[in-house]
Amino acid sequence: MIDRRAFVKAGSTSIAALALSPQLALPEGTRGSEHAVGRLTLPMNRNWRFSPRRADQDTARHFNDTTFERVTVPHTNHKVAWHSFDEKTYQFISIYRRHFTLPRVARGQHVFIDFEGAMAASTVWINGHRLGEYRGGYTPFSFELTPHVDWDHENVLAVELDSTERPDIPPFGGTIDYLTFGGIYREVALRCVPSTHLDNVFARPVNVLSDHPGVDVSCFVAHLATRAMPLTLEVELRDKDRVLASARTELASVTATLEPEEHKLTLSELGPVQRWDLEKPTLYTVVARIRQGTAVIDEDQRRIGFREARFTDHGFELNGRIVKLRGLNRHQTFPWVGQAMPARVQRRDAVILKKELKLNIVRTSHYPQSRHFLDACDELGLLVLEEIPGWQHTGDKQWQDLAVDNVGRMIRRDWNHPSIILWGVRINEANDNHDFYVRTNALAHRLDPSRQTGGVRNHYQSELLEDVFTNNDFGFPLDPPNHPLYLNTEFVGHTFPAKPYDHGSRLAEQSLRHARIHNQLGSMTQYAGGIGWCAFDYNTHAAFGGGDRMCYHGVSDIFRLPKPAASFYRAQCDPTDEIVLEPAFQWAARADWSAGLEGSEEGSSRPMRGLIWSNCERIAIHVDEKSVVDVEPDRENFPHLPHPPFFVDRNRLRGATLRMEGYLGPKVVIERTYNVDGVDREFMVVADDDVLNADGADTTRVVMRVTDEFGSLRRYSTAAISLTLEGPAELVGDNPFSLVGGGGAVWIRAREQAGKVVLRASHPVLGTRSVSLQIRAAERERV
Ligand code: GAL
Repeated sequence: MIDRRAFVKAGSTSIAALALSPQLALPEGTRGSEHAVGRLTLPMNRNWRFSPRRADQDTARHFNDTTFERVTVPHTNHKVAWHSFDEKTYQFISIYRRHFTLPRVARGQHVFIDFEGAMAASTVWINGHRLGEYRGGYTPFSFELTPHVDWDHENVLAVELDSTERPDIPPFGGTIDYLTFGGIYREVALRCVPSTHLDNVFARPVNVLSDHPGVDVSCFVAHLATRAMPLTLEVELRDKDRVLASARTELASVTATLEPEEHKLTLSELGPVQRWDLEKPTLYTVVARIRQGTAVIDEDQRRIGFREARFTDHGFELNGRIVKLRGLNRHQTFPWVGQAMPARVQRRDAVILKKELKLNIVRTSHYPQSRHFLDACDELGLLVLEEIPGWQHTGDKQWQDLAVDNVGRMIRRDWNHPSIILWGVRINEANDNHDFYVRTNALAHRLDPSRQTGGVRNHYQSELLEDVFTNNDFGFPLDPPNHPLYLNTEFVGHTFPAKPYDHGSRLAEQSLRHARIHNQLGSMTQYAGGIGWCAFDYNTHAAFGGGDRMCYHGVSDIFRLPKPAASFYRAQCDPTDEIVLEPAFQWAARADWSAGLEGSEEGSSRPMRGLIWSNCERIAIHVDEKSVVDVEPDRENFPHLPHPPFFVDRNRLRGATLRMEGYLGPKVVIERTYNVDGVDREFMVVADDDVLNADGADTTRVVMRVTDEFGSLRRYSTAAISLTLEGPAELVGDNPFSLVGGGGAVWIRAREQAGKVVLRASHPVLGTRSVSLQIRAAERERV
């Protein structure tokens, strides 16, 4: 995590200074104590002072910043409309300042500031000393503050944040099909550690499929000062509080070095361990500790999972079993606040992908995403292809050096996540560049020999330096695999966008296009599967999308609400997971019906076929309580899908109330009813959570929907919903909010006071609904 270049600059003084006293300075209160843990991690997310305008001397220690806005990170430097805004409005240089006083217990420690992500170039000062510039908006960086901190008085950290699209920083240089927004949009913390401390831990489960699994643990130990006293390094594997195995080694005396030293330990004789699998993603913890005598001077931990993941010439294997990959790409952007969403909202996306869309893989297009999102993928059993920032453009040598550095930062940050099965080490859809990709691959393989590399291209003939040929194939039929290890990483997307309020036939067609690709991917074992474009609609530059700064390529909209294409994905799950029965047509919209493959777009004269996505074996259709027809899945045209589409002839269905019964064997397992009236009857308002933490950042989504009396979405409803919010929280969203495709969402962000929050949402005709949230007191930040 340390920015080595900055370390060389800022850290050299501290090495020189501390080299004079080889004794480790233990924090007060830890000396001789059996259970003391030397490391102090102090979150610094609240009480930032922010100004969108630069002023003379604004990075100086005693600059008067009392007029600055008080903000909490994740923070967006500029709120935008959810679409149709000018992306220049957030591209400026801003200043963030943070005052802090170090706790006495940190005295004598090395103090680092860790940024998890700030868009896009951060120049950091402490007490008026410039520490350096970090270029990159998606990767973590740190600076050592020690030589310049004032242990007795208030310190001031200043960050000059350049949120313009600087062509010297990946992904910039060309025009990219997404927006990067601005701000310190991920968490910040102070880390106080002794001169010898754990810089990182990489724990690799080995022999996972044998009777004797183990864990190879690499501990990266930093030595910022010369030290005479020997120390002990120990690691243990834990199942919650139970220690399953441990190992230790002595750390001999050392002279200070810039690069952390790698110490390898092996954990064996673990006893029975549960594997990490898609259905049951069991996690364990590896704890690493440095002791001086009996005192713990540093401790850190990582979560791991026991799984073996390999792409083979007959598909992707997880724990020795072929898993056909069925996934979507995810952009991490949200309406109004861009990327500045906290842990809870990041985690929610993973829940949507796994539980609502029933995917088994996600690609973090086109950059490393929030650790919270990845943590949730680990917990849920959702596989991940993670890749470096970039889009169709590679810059000069310096730019490429940054991209190579991004590979290192991404892997060092995320190498313990069992969910990650492939590193993407090419710039998405950029041309071949032999020397550059030799470097990215070599670094990935050196750092992490346990994972294969991919790198997403869109040229079938492009040079393969990676282990897996990961290819965007937007055509149909798909090209056959041209390499033994082959994964399709994008399809449909811009070739068939659909707005949530588009004509029904278009929405149905979008779902069928995803289906026919997965059907073809299912036809050959060598296709490892596919990751479609994409999960959620997203904001983009003027050059792309729908002419309103939006790409409507999602199977769900930007509020994460499903379109019919989402029903296709949902319906592919096993009925033991959930029973799905969702028509892609609107019963009330009589012209909404035609759906089929080729030539079925709007205006076609094909027969009016209704499309239904379901994982049932048979659907019995009743109109006005008269049985009309039984339909079976279209196995003839979609033989390779676990659950093919059902088609029903519109001409056979005339009447008012449609009732569908889904069967498994002889049993009705699900039933759905729809009214033909075409009248908005119900207004529903639901929050994803009912408790938030009063940390100034915690946020939840509130979904609004207009439905018929049976709960079915009224897709053309555009009602303006007026909102009132009471209590210690802030509304993230438009007020009034006009429904989009019959639904939409706003978010509620907690302030720092505990209390009760009530959101009242008024529909002009259907009345007012309210949701209540409890805002729970959060621990105060210590600095
Ligand atoms: C791909 C690209 C994606 C997105 C998509 C739209 O070419 O990799 O980022 O732009 O097209 O379909």
